[in-house]
Amino acid sequence: MQKKWWHDKVAYQIYPKSFMDSNGDGIGDLRGIISKLDYLKELGIDIIWLSPIYKSPFVDQGYDISDYYQIAEEFGTMEEFDELLAEAKKRDMYILMDLVVNHCSSQHEYFQKALSDPDGEYADYFYFVKGKDGREPSNYRSYFGGKAWEPVPGTDKYYLHMFAKEQPDLNWENPALRRKVYDMMNWWLKKGLGGFRIDAIINIKKDINFPSFPPDGPDGLVSCVKMVEEVNGVGEFLEEMKHETFEKFDAFTVGEVFNMKEDELREFIGEDGHFSSMFDFSAHELTYGEHGWYDAKPVEFRRWREILFASQKEMEGIGFKANIIENHDEPRGASRYLPEYARNEAGKKMLATTSILLRGIPFIYQGQEIGMTNCKRDDISEYDDISTKDQYQVAIEAGCTKDEALRACYENSRDNARTPMQWSGEENAGFTGGRPWLSVNPNYTEINVLEQESREDSVLSYYKKLIALRKAPEYKETFTYGSFQPIYEETENIFGFLRVSKESGQRILTAANFGKEACTLSLPGTAKKVLLSNMKKESEAEAEIRTLGRLPLESCEAIVLLLEGGEE
Ligand code: GLC
Repeated sequence: MQKKWWHDKVAYQIYPKSFMDSNGDGIGDLRGIISKLDYLKELGIDIIWLSPIYKSPFVDQGYDISDYYQIAEEFGTMEEFDELLAEAKKRDMYILMDLVVNHCSSQHEYFQKALSDPDGEYADYFYFVKGKDGREPSNYRSYFGGKAWEPVPGTDKYYLHMFAKEQPDLNWENPALRRKVYDMMNWWLKKGLGGFRIDAIINIKKDINFPSFPPDGPDGLVSCVKMVEEVNGVGEFLEEMKHETFEKFDAFTVGEVFNMKEDELREFIGEDGHFSSMFDFSAHELTYGEHGWYDAKPVEFRRWREILFASQKEMEGIGFKANIIENHDEPRGASRYLPEYARNEAGKKMLATTSILLRGIPFIYQGQEIGMTNCKRDDISEYDDISTKDQYQVAIEAGCTKDEALRACYENSRDNARTPMQWSGEENAGFTGGRPWLSVNPNYTEINVLEQESREDSVLSYYKKLIALRKAPEYKETFTYGSFQPIYEETENIFGFLRVSKESGQRILTAANFGKEACTLSLPGTAKKVLLSNMKKESEAEAEIRTLGRLPLESCEAIVLLLEGGEE
């Protein structure tokens, strides 16, 4: 496999609106990000993905872009962005922008021009489609609820929006539009970006006949994802995009790919794939409810482990997925993947160990490194997120009580991850001197960066050690390119895997006890050295293993152990 500059990197996602506010308007900004670059460097981060910072009306928090060539005023100026790039470069860090090109904002100049001339050139930048029998062209439901078609005023046409109605879908069948997109991407890449995180990309290919499907809900509509699942040919667009843009810059790209067709992994992230990497969402998909958040399922350990292991194995010899436990669209990992008894610092460190040392590129979401958690709200009015409001309504209409619907939001809302970063125990978590755009999680007095920086045994200190271990010159080869081999699969509650490298001759075992009870495991070889422990001093853990000749694990204990001898 050809080695790439990004294979051994560790990435971090910043949600700019909630990261650090430098001017007291309650909204995070670029200057705030610049002020925290040293913090990220010290954590061990190489690549920073910024959720959208372009000009936007923020109907979907910046995922509705009204000008791809401008920075949102709320976040700062283009000069500040250039400064951020330069400051990142000084520290050997790379910046990824979020590429949102399935749709733009209804405020975008193209859409405004399309509306004012529905038969003109710009209308063809979108899907302006004639209705059928005085109704929408098809029965699609948008991802955020309600119809995916909106009338084009003064015509018998409708425009397609797979997300909010303020996010009209761009017509990728139109070569003129594609050219505009590629030019824009190259403009950013020339500035010196490391690459892009690529938003909702599978949706760019439509069946332009827009067939209706049998309804899947009481609203008589069917999720627009059905059409995406049925259509082929997205790969042609993606290859063209790659050749016209990132390939020329050796840029790193990570796709947000849902609903990939079976057996397409190689096409997506193989050596000549469309992207450098794509997120591993397999675990996230476990909780999806059939009808919405209100019937979402809790994560069951056995299933979770099985699905992650399958995903790891699937990648072997193909490429690298991007491993996450949370992001700006998901609840906090500590509240989702840890059982009640493990929702403490030991548990959070354990979860970190099992995620960061997998094969693939680790992506840490802001606040994960201090163990931020979901946030309870008393009323739906305290939420901001467009999809949370929809899902609350769906729950109420399905007969849930207010408390049940709020509970579903507490467990699933995208705002759980969007509360301001908890920098300190000061008012508003040290995020802003003003009033935060979204109120802070009240647990900031206990969970914050400043407190954890002062403590050797904090979650933050542990993340630093863990990342340093992954990148340590003597183990880097194994953690980056070593194969993934599951172990203890028959043992309840143990998340165990080996990373094995022919190149380095090393075998490194990671084992974590997600169970409530302590246990003792047999070792797949002779222990050489404990590289990391989340509960004990490494030397103590090592002595214990030597005495027993086995591996004892407390509840919530995780251990990383170098074994004697190479591949067997
Ligand atoms: C992606 C983003 C999400 C956004 C959606 C529409 O899924 O991660 O936040 O709402 O695309 O752009």
